[in-house]
Amino acid sequence: MSETDVAPFAPEWLALREGADARARAREPVGLIGDRGRVVADLGCGTGSLGRWLAPRLPSPQHWVLFDRDPRLLAMAEHGVPGATTETRRRDLASLRPTDLDGCTLVVASALLDVLTRPAVGALVEAVVGAGCPALFSLTVAGRVELSPADPLDGAVARAFDAHQRRGGLLGPDAVEAARAAFTERGAATRTFASPWRLGPGEGALLAAWLRGWVGAAREQDPDLPADAYLERRLEECSRGALYAIVHHTDLWADPAGDDR
Ligand SMILES: C[S@@+](CC[C@H](N)C(=O)[O-])C[C@H]1O[C@@H](n2cnc3c(N)ncnc32)[C@H](O)[C@@H]1O
Repeated sequence: MSETDVAPFAPEWLALREGADARARAREPVGLIGDRGRVVADLGCGTGSLGRWLAPRLPSPQHWVLFDRDPRLLAMAEHGVPGATTETRRRDLASLRPTDLDGCTLVVASALLDVLTRPAVGALVEAVVGAGCPALFSLTVAGRVELSPADPLDGAVARAFDAHQRRGGLLGPDAVEAARAAFTERGAATRTFASPWRLGPGEGALLAAWLRGWVGAAREQDPDLPADAYLERRLEECSRGALYAIVHHTDLWADPAGDDR
């Protein structure tokens, strides 16, 4: 996203979304993990939000291997996974190899796939299948947003935003299908689960920040959109607690040793 109050990977943005992410995450994959969460690789860990949610739901002891390319985020994540030992690895995930996952029993990631290219997702899938670990890629954007009340410009803004997400070969809303196809091609079983953000008056700060980013990206993609007036309308509704949004996401489970294909 662009023109947000906070950049997409800024700790402030990650903190703002952490509560909504926690409420949105699908619960079923936790049951599929079973006792395979002993050594967990968290790809694109940010400040460790997924670990804070998932670690207390898995059996102890656990060790988390935290991957990101941003050293500032890695430093915050290092002490952010409750009840687990951690280590950090600064890596560009586009060139991840199976050996990077040596010793890991589970791979997880959150809000990652949609900001990667098809070759990068291919490399991740190759690494996961090569390591023989099950994987949970959670909270990937699905390219569907529902706003209430509706506005005549909603569709045009959503289309421009999705096009912006696909800029420069990034997968955006095509990421789950691309990853799922790559896993299937390599013989892994996959399942998907809905994990929508449901934002209303209780999430006013997140809703306003998300709106600024969503409309800002759409405006950048299509400068002819009357985006300023639209944003002003939507922010005014938000400020009086009259706006609701469902931002659809998908959680993808993949298991190279699974049989539920
Ligand atoms: C939207 S944030 C999500 C962070 C965290 N998983 C969460 O849910 O709060 C995406 C994260 O992936 C990292 N990232 C994105 N592309 C990457 C790449 N090619 N290599 C390594 N890290 C990457 C970013 O630095 C950022 O921490």
